[in-house]
Amino acid sequence: MQAKVVVVGSLNMDLVARAARLPQPGETVVGTSFATVPGGKGANQAVAAARQGAPTAMIGCVGDDAYGEQLRGALLAEGIDCQAVASVAGVSSGVALIVVDDASQNNIVIVAGGNGEVRPQRVQDADALLQQAEVLVCQLEVPMDTVAFALERGRVLGKTVILNPAPVSGPLPAAWYRAVDYLVPNESEAFALTGVRVDSVASAEQAAIYLLAAGARKVIITLGALGSLFADGSGFIHFPAPRVQAVDTTAAGDTFVGAFAAALARGEGEREAIAVGQVAAALSVTRAGAQPSIPSLAEVRGFVQP
Ligand code: RIB
Repeated sequence: MQAKVVVVGSLNMDLVARAARLPQPGETVVGTSFATVPGGKGANQAVAAARQGAPTAMIGCVGDDAYGEQLRGALLAEGIDCQAVASVAGVSSGVALIVVDDASQNNIVIVAGGNGEVRPQRVQDADALLQQAEVLVCQLEVPMDTVAFALERGRVLGKTVILNPAPVSGPLPAAWYRAVDYLVPNESEAFALTGVRVDSVASAEQAAIYLLAAGARKVIITLGALGSLFADGSGFIHFPAPRVQAVDTTAAGDTFVGAFAAALARGEGEREAIAVGQVAAALSVTRAGAQPSIPSLAEVRGFVQP
């Protein structure tokens, strides 16, 4: 299989508690359920691309523990090429502690574990995967120097490079803007990158103007129930979100990114690809968990607005 989408990124086991509401600092709340669910932004994006029919490969690391076996197994079950997913001795696999409330909002704490072992050399060693790909996808749950290396290699090879700057706490290196074809932050990430509080389409336009001025070629700000905003040098396009009943928004952004990448890899135009990403993300929020919530190509194509 020649992978058309390559994801450089994280794999986490998500330890998910549901509770009526999220706890305040110092507070204990009583939860209603608990589950361990395969996740991690990188792995979720790879699963989303694979379920949309794109031959997909992952570059990442897990620990040599039971979670690592399960995380790798979850990707293999999707037909994802895991030859570049290493099991690293002496470290734990990445985990995410997640609380989801009755309003389907979440809080997430991640512990990098094996994700911290995704060094530039591992991307270099998997260069054959990058060379054959159409689309490269990165996020920020692996070391920054690795992301920098992958983005630059993707640019040099002429691939379509997508960066989902998540999680982000401050400005991105200036060179990254030039290496990336599509920068895809959500509202809070756009705020962290620009200082513009994004809570409307109009404020998303202001944040996008900032990101374009910083050097981004194309920006897609995902806006949850408000949909997404596409921006490039010629203007803005707002894509309203399909209306659905949200149960759990975990991995909605990852689903958008992976489905968008898969649609680009099969030759769809960017507007069509954004529409595919939006439907996939909307379907994902109707189901609980990260990877279990990600829809198939048939589900996305069969989606009818209720
Ligand atoms: O974006 C959702 C993901 O963020 C979760 O699956 C969790 O692992 C964290 O990485």
